[in-house]
Amino acid sequence: RASMPQPPEQIDTLEEASKAAAQCRRCDLCESATQTVWGEGAADAQLMIVGEQPGDREDIEGRPFTGPAGQLLRALLSDAGIDARTLWLTNAVKHFKFSPRGKRRLHRNPDRGEIAHCRWWLGLELTLVKPKLTVALGASAAFALTGDNRPMAERRGEIETGLHGGPVLVTWHPSYILRAGDPAAATIARDDLARDLAKAMAVI
Ligand code: URA
Repeated sequence: RASMPQPPEQIDTLEEASKAAAQCRRCDLCESATQTVWGEGAADAQLMIVGEQPGDREDIEGRPFTGPAGQLLRALLSDAGIDARTLWLTNAVKHFKFSPRGKRRLHRNPDRGEIAHCRWWLGLELTLVKPKLTVALGASAAFALTGDNRPMAERRGEIETGLHGGPVLVTWHPSYILRAGDPAAATIARDDLARDLAKAMAVI
């Protein structure tokens, strides 16, 4: 079973962590990505939301959740009356993984090794922010936080114990809603995600 890596003693603040992460070469994704996309939000957030990895837009802007999936997440947060600035928003993997296709860059899922390497940073964020609850958006975040690879459909809406010892609420990734071909399925998934975000707020 995976474990949450122990953070180094010389990094005491999120600012120091962000500077160190900007130089990260723990895996090969830094070679092709534009930059490290570190987390953002409140250093004392009670709720931390973890996505998969930055997308095309995030890679260019250097901020998490600014592309289409991020905009959907931010809209659902705002519908639920949650101010994103009071949360800590981050990703399981901090560099964009893609395949070039002409002028476009097609998203690729991070593999277990990339998630494991980047868990070092996620563990550091958890240690520094100390959230009461962490929300895992999608399978990569759920795996990064819990070490468990079970399918999303079996666990969505449940609170599991993370590798760091704290509670992790597993829910859909917003891109799952955007990709759902069937509008009825998209509506159900959107309602699930909205309900899970409300549940997260009720728990903290
Ligand atoms: N943007 C992010 O920052 N993370 C995701 O998981 C998806 C989009």
